[in-house]
Amino acid sequence: MMKTHAPKGTYDLLPQNASRWRYIEEQIHKIFREYGFGEVRTPIFEHTELFQRGIGETTDIVEKEMFTFSDRGDRSITLRPEGTASIVRAFIEHNMAGPGAMAKLYYLGPMFRCEAPQAGRYRQFVQFGAEALGSNDPRVDAEIIALVVNFYRRLGIDDLDVNLNSIGCPECRPAYRERLIEHLKPKASQMCPNCQRRLERNPLRLLDCKNTTCQQLTADIPLITETLCDDCGSHFEKLRQLLDLSGIHYRINPRLVRGFDYYTKTVFEVLAGDLGAQNALCGGGRYDGLVEMCGGKPTPGIGFAAGMERLMMVLEARQLMPEIDERPHLYLAPLGEEAQKIIFPLCIRLRESGWIVETDLQGKSLKAQMKAADKLGARLTGVIGEDECRVGKILMRNMETGEQELIDVAALSEYLQTVLRGS
Ligand code: HAM
Repeated sequence: MMKTHAPKGTYDLLPQNASRWRYIEEQIHKIFREYGFGEVRTPIFEHTELFQRGIGETTDIVEKEMFTFSDRGDRSITLRPEGTASIVRAFIEHNMAGPGAMAKLYYLGPMFRCEAPQAGRYRQFVQFGAEALGSNDPRVDAEIIALVVNFYRRLGIDDLDVNLNSIGCPECRPAYRERLIEHLKPKASQMCPNCQRRLERNPLRLLDCKNTTCQQLTADIPLITETLCDDCGSHFEKLRQLLDLSGIHYRINPRLVRGFDYYTKTVFEVLAGDLGAQNALCGGGRYDGLVEMCGGKPTPGIGFAAGMERLMMVLEARQLMPEIDERPHLYLAPLGEEAQKIIFPLCIRLRESGWIVETDLQGKSLKAQMKAADKLGARLTGVIGEDECRVGKILMRNMETGEQELIDVAALSEYLQTVLRGS
């Protein structure tokens, strides 16, 4: 039969890597708890219109990257390409908006985008992110950015490049849009087809086109930060003050617009140099109109999402990943059927007491079992042969020191406690 491979842009996480992921996931849950965020798990798929409405019809994601299909009832379903729209849907659906209430929610899970795979870019990838709904205070923006920066710093990534911008609101953005169209229209014929198409509908998107000609054509565009209304200007100013007060370094990047239509005011991205072309560790921003756009009461919000794969790439490239010790405490090697009858239930009892215990289930020779114990990194190996069976003993070998001694099977728990836990 033909061998089947994992689909393009996906990968399998094997045991050794999975334990590293689990360790980082624990750090993620920990920091979100510390900052007062509660976990939400939304479905992997949603009605397509949620993303069309929420993310925006003219974004790359909605135009060309969604995994969309019809279900058996002919409803259009999409594998979630990001978490924000789903969280907002859940926020509305579960009436989380109380008067004066704030919802601080976080998530961790797989997202799906049909992009061209490359290093750090997959079709199924894992994001962790947070959404804070119910306040337009710039302290929320600063808190989110502080959380992100402190999270990476804790893991040892301390040369972060935090890019910050404000892209205005429905008050001030239309005028900027017009200025941009006016400025770029004469150059339209030289632009890539994507930008030509978007010039009238979504001219801000032209600022982050990766095409070098388009980048040159937009090099001298008017800056959005110069045309912000008073409200957006003062919001941005206060946010910067709060970040300065909290010792968080950032740089203003007036070209940062991000790939979603829902953003208002603050947008930010955190980059790490060693990621190459896909250099964004995370990105986020404020979306004060999104809840209303999705059918809820007007509610301001801000959030971010971060890529797990990219984080793991940076941690590994910099050797910042702590060694995770999941070696067995004990490898029990039975020789013959009588010994197997003793060892099998013994393993189960020891595991019930919390010991990590491995044994042979294939009838291997003693030599092969010792090799297996060594390969697994077992700290102790216990052999029971015919002689040991008769006297109820087990020959224990400390794999670190090479010392051997005969132990009573009945006293094994105590022995493990003394040798491995020092009591
Ligand atoms: P985003 O910038 O599209 O934002 O994604 C956030 C992060 O997810 C990226 O910085 C990157 O680390 C990771 N990422 C995105 N696409 C891929 C991919 N194909 N493969 C691997 N990693 C990827 C959002 O998703 C917004 N929902 C963020 C947000 C939340 N804004 C407000 N709230």
